[in-house]
Amino acid sequence: MRLDKYVALVLGVTRNQARQLIKMKEITVEFKSFPRNDDTIDEVRDVVYYKGRKLEYLKNVYIMLNKPKGYLSATIDKKDPTVLDLVLEYQKYNLAMVGRLDKDTEGLFILTSDGALAHRLTSPNKNVFKKYYVEVEGVWNREDILKFNEGLEIEDGNNKRFLTKPAILEMVASNKAYISISEGKYHQIKKMCLKVGKKVTYLKRVAIGELQLDANLSAGEYRLLTDEEIEILKANK
Ligand code: URA
Repeated sequence: MRLDKYVALVLGVTRNQARQLIKMKEITVEFKSFPRNDDTIDEVRDVVYYKGRKLEYLKNVYIMLNKPKGYLSATIDKKDPTVLDLVLEYQKYNLAMVGRLDKDTEGLFILTSDGALAHRLTSPNKNVFKKYYVEVEGVWNREDILKFNEGLEIEDGNNKRFLTKPAILEMVASNKAYISISEGKYHQIKKMCLKVGKKVTYLKRVAIGELQLDANLSAGEYRLLTDEEIEILKANK
């Protein structure tokens, strides 16, 4: 890749700004005394510095965000802040979202520059279980476990009735539970709970397949996935 293109990409500046930085000798390249804009560099092996700071080239980024309430799962919105507003330093990567969460839902949210993977993971015939921690108005009973397992008839986002695939309801208190579903229809958990007479008062996604939300991330915090987690995510496809 050309040096000016590389600098623009990594620093999130325009190609012209990158050329200025190279001209002003703010960019240095190991083993090259006079780096030029059109020098070809190997993004993995060559070491490039900006004002003496080593630049990191990430081919693809995979971000785990603990989505807080109040943020939309969208790239842009006129009224509300979006999940992209929370990861400003990675905006230059043209991030795609792996699935969606309602504005008032919290928890595990994945953003990645690997658009092909995001697309594969969100395709409707994926059977990956998404696990949610749910609090409701009402009291869970044993019949609810059976009903969730047998499937509930609800409406999808287009007012079409459909039977949900078997879901797992694990009660943890009279009004608290973990619910795992392998689909992602509009407001699915809320609709399933309403169908058994319970209104969701708090909803948080805690896992996507084997990938768990990092308990050290507070709402609004994020970090890059580890190599091992990226493998887990890719194995879900
Ligand atoms: N089900 C819902 O009802 N809302 C979400 O955000 C995710 C699943």
